[in-house]
Amino acid sequence: MEQAAASDAVYETFRHNTALGARLTGVRIDHVRGDSRSVLPYLRNEYFDIVYIDGSHYYEAVKSDIEHAMRLVESGGFICGDDLEGQLHDVDEEQCVANRNSDFIRDVRTGGQYHPGVTLAVGRAFGNVSNYGGFWVARKGADGYEKVAVDALRCFAPLFLSPEEGKAFQEKMNGITPTSDVPPLLNPEFIEELGTYNIIRYRQQFYCIPHHAGPFSTAPDWLETLNGWGVIRSTLEEARAECRFLTERRAEREARRRTV
Ligand SMILES: C[S@@+](CC[C@H](N)C(=O)[O-])C[C@H]1O[C@@H](n2cnc3c(N)ncnc32)[C@H](O)[C@@H]1O
Repeated sequence: MEQAAASDAVYETFRHNTALGARLTGVRIDHVRGDSRSVLPYLRNEYFDIVYIDGSHYYEAVKSDIEHAMRLVESGGFICGDDLEGQLHDVDEEQCVANRNSDFIRDVRTGGQYHPGVTLAVGRAFGNVSNYGGFWVARKGADGYEKVAVDALRCFAPLFLSPEEGKAFQEKMNGITPTSDVPPLLNPEFIEELGTYNIIRYRQQFYCIPHHAGPFSTAPDWLETLNGWGVIRSTLEEARAECRFLTERRAEREARRRTV
């Protein structure tokens, strides 16, 4: 995998995918290519909303990534990552420590396979975190790191997926059973109509839902039935900007179609 990552073929694929994503969503994507231990020291303190860790599986490297993440993420932001199949309190700790420089092992206590370097680094940094089928997340609160009920935020598929792919993606992600405490679901709330979109508030998020996705409903699972249509923003202002942007793009596409 290290060889693959160092090759230009992987880098070119990355460039292609991010350029496509940026064009379709209007989101600006910056990147820096390099080993996280060389790159992260140059990034700005408390500047990031989310830090997603999915690099090395070895203890010292994950520990370093987490220490940088704690410095980089702002208060209220999220530190998350992949490859946490077992939490430190579940696995045999002695075996985990002894194998912290192994990639993947079988736990003598549970019989499950996991990445001991990731489990040890996450467990020592945060204790027990929210964990969803290997995806883990902690939120930087005023008094330390808190658990996060990701399932309650609901998942929306990226816009560049086809409707079929979006539906499959959304079903997969929303079907993951959380392993931590989950607050009860609230009902979606209609905020306003803007262009060809409705803005819906659901928990602390704002959803831009196109009119053609169907009529609004206050049913708690309504957003799940939309087959991935929509964009999530964390403030009303951001949602308004997104609706204006998407409405204009749609109008441009319609105009182009009429002139062809
Ligand atoms: C688990 S894979 C995940 C790759 C990608 N995030 C994905 O989901 O397809 C980890 C990747 O991180 C790279 N990697 C390992 N150690 C790293 C480090 N210290 N800094 C940056 N990348 C690293 C590996 O080469 C590998 O490509």
